[in-house]
Amino acid sequence: MTIQVRQLHPVFVGEVSGVDLAATLPPETVAELTEAINRHAVLVFHGQTLDDDHLLALGRVFGNIEPPRNHRVVRRLKHAELADISNLDAKNQLRARDDHRRLDALANQLWHSDASFRQESGALSMLFAHVVPPVGGETEFADLRAAYDALTPAMQAKIEGLVVEHSIFHSRGQLGHTDYTEAERAALPPAQHRLVRTHPGSKRKTLYMGSHASHIIGWPMPDGRLLLRDLMEHATQREFVHRHSWRVGDLVIWDNRCTLHRGRSYDDAAHARDLRRVTTRDPESALERVA
Ligand code: OGA
Ligand code: MN
Repeated sequence: MTIQVRQLHPVFVGEVSGVDLAATLPPETVAELTEAINRHAVLVFHGQTLDDDHLLALGRVFGNIEPPRNHRVVRRLKHAELADISNLDAKNQLRARDDHRRLDALANQLWHSDASFRQESGALSMLFAHVVPPVGGETEFADLRAAYDALTPAMQAKIEGLVVEHSIFHSRGQLGHTDYTEAERAALPPAQHRLVRTHPGSKRKTLYMGSHASHIIGWPMPDGRLLLRDLMEHATQREFVHRHSWRVGDLVIWDNRCTLHRGRSYDDAAHARDLRRVTTRDPESALERVA
C-alpha cells in the first residue's frame, strides 16, 4: 500500500493521504486510487499543489477527457479541457450579478451528476481549489448506491428498466434561466440513460438521475417527474450526504456514475471562489442508450 484512506462518512467518502498528485503516479498507486474510488465514490486530498497542466494530466491518468461546455466564455484557464468553476471573468474580476455565465453556473447548486445530459456522460470529476470564500461555497455529495440499497424491494422493482431523459436546459429551466439561443439548444440535444444501472467498478446497483433528469420515457410527464422528485428526496437525505468544506489545495475526486453533488451558496458579489475541474468520459454510458 502506498496510500492511506480514512473513511469520512458512514457509507462513503475517503480522505486520502500519502500521495502527491502533481507527481507522475506509478501504476500501483493509480490502481490503489481506482480501488479507493470504487469503494468510497468520493476521495478527498489535502495540501496539493496543482497548476492547470497538473490537473489536466491527472484527469488523463483516469480516462479520456469530457470537455466542458465552456458556456459563452472568454477562457481564463490554460486548457479548454478544464471547467472553470469560479465566479471570475478572463481578467480575474468578479462577474456581475446579471452575467449570463454566472446565471448558467448557479445551476451547479442543484443536485446533479456531471454531463448526465450527454449520451457519453461524465465518469470521474476532479475539482481543485485555488481560492475559497471565507464562508459558504461548500460542495455536498450524495451516495446513490447506498440510496438504491435503502429503497424498498417494491420500489426497486418498479424502477428497474426505466429510461430517463436528461437535458441541460431542464436543470437551468428549474431556476427560471431559459435565455438560450436555438443554436445553443440544438448543440446539446437530450440524452437517455437508465434510471438503475450497475456501477462498473464495484458491480453495485445505483440510481442515476439528478437535476438534468427531466422525465421518464413512455410515462406521462407528471408521473415521471413526481417519481424523479421522490427519488431525489430519498437520495439526498442526510444519511447519504457528505459536506466538503474547501481549503486551498484540496482536490476532490467523485464518481458521477454513482453520486450526486451540488455547490452551496456564498457571497459571490464580495468574494472570489476559484475552483477548476477536469472530468473523464464514461464510455459505457453510450452503451446504455435506448432507442
Ligand atoms: C462541478 C460542480 C459544485 C461546486 O464542479 O461540477 O458542480 O461546489 N461544482 O462548485
Ligand atoms: Mn458539477
